[in-house]
Amino acid sequence: MENNVRLLVLFGSQTYTAQEIAERIWRDTKVLGFKGPVLAMDDYPISNLIYEKLVLFVCSTTGDGDEPDNMKTFWKFLLRKNLPSNSLINLKYAVVGLGDSSYAKFNFAAKKLQKRLSQLGGTPLHETALCDYQHDLGHNGVLSSWLKNFYTKLKLCSTNVTPEITETKFVPRWKVSLNKRGIDDVDDFNEDIYFSNGNTAHFVNPLHLEIEKNKRITDESHFQDVRLITFKTINDKLKFDPGDTLNIRPRNSTADIKDLFDIFETHNLDIKAHYILNFEECHEDMPVPNFLKQPLSVYMIAEQYWDLKAYPTQYVFALLALVSEDKLEREKCIELSSPEGQEEWLNYCRRPRRTILEVKN
Ligand SMILES: Cc1cc2nc3c(=O)[nH]c(=O)nc-3n(C[C@H](O)[C@H](O)[C@H](O)COP(=O)(O)O)c2cc1C
Repeated sequence: MENNVRLLVLFGSQTYTAQEIAERIWRDTKVLGFKGPVLAMDDYPISNLIYEKLVLFVCSTTGDGDEPDNMKTFWKFLLRKNLPSNSLINLKYAVVGLGDSSYAKFNFAAKKLQKRLSQLGGTPLHETALCDYQHDLGHNGVLSSWLKNFYTKLKLCSTNVTPEITETKFVPRWKVSLNKRGIDDVDDFNEDIYFSNGNTAHFVNPLHLEIEKNKRITDESHFQDVRLITFKTINDKLKFDPGDTLNIRPRNSTADIKDLFDIFETHNLDIKAHYILNFEECHEDMPVPNFLKQPLSVYMIAEQYWDLKAYPTQYVFALLALVSEDKLEREKCIELSSPEGQEEWLNYCRRPRRTILEVKN
């Protein structure tokens, strides 16, 4: 580990896609023999950037060509006029942009980031990837071949690399274990920290609100299901100023959560709703975020963190293949995650929009 070259992976992500891709690349680079963390740009102490030699940025575009919320502070700093044009002279970088060509400002955030890094003296290690959600294969349409070329160049930056990504080892971000005590036994549970502090989505002042009205306002025949949703507020707690925005953080439905625990049971997995998950650090510079240091039951994670409506990308099948103990299941997952299996994956997952819960044998 001592001699391993440091590669910092930073992401800016509004709805977690860029985060998933950043973590996926980070895992690959661990297998290749690089060290260093994967972090949201705003969680990285930006004044250290001048000392970094190798950074990969993964950045989506949101709004109308805007940067995601968790890179806004980072981006504001980078735009400071008084930064010398050789600030990042030591830096070799690459940018992966995630966008959607149906928007006028396609991949604007990534393009602006790449331009600014270059203005500040950074050297591109590889051209910017402009991934497009409209591609039949989603972002992978551009990303797969880009990564291949990027890894070839990256390997030249270190003498201490594993020649090939063998894809036989699952690299976790943190060490996770199950504690079979009930959450009710825990006295030090602090809801405020659990909901706000250090959460990558930066929730501020969370409030539990009940839905008062949820009514479809578009005709049934219209392709969009537009709704008027009103909430009961706990009046004196909800203070707001003009221009404030409200983020709604939905929870999974009880039916979906029940389905998940039924799957655990069918497969004889001893994972009960009240068990507590413990997270421990297992990589240099990769601290466990505060909200995961609180005791969280499997139920809370299933209800509020896991996206049970997500449809699995090819990468999800690659990860499942690494942890599956059943030979046939593992082979199927490898097939669905391979370039040759793309058509089958499209038919099985993407076209019918099959959710992760519906992928079961
Ligand atoms: C509200 C919204 C606005 C978006 N605006 C843009 C845009 O201006 N330009 C673009 O290329 N993509 C845009 N996109 C597409 C996203 O960049 C794309 O879906 C990306 O995968 C999201 O990554 P994330 O989940 O990490 O935020 C937008 C998506 C949403 C939901």
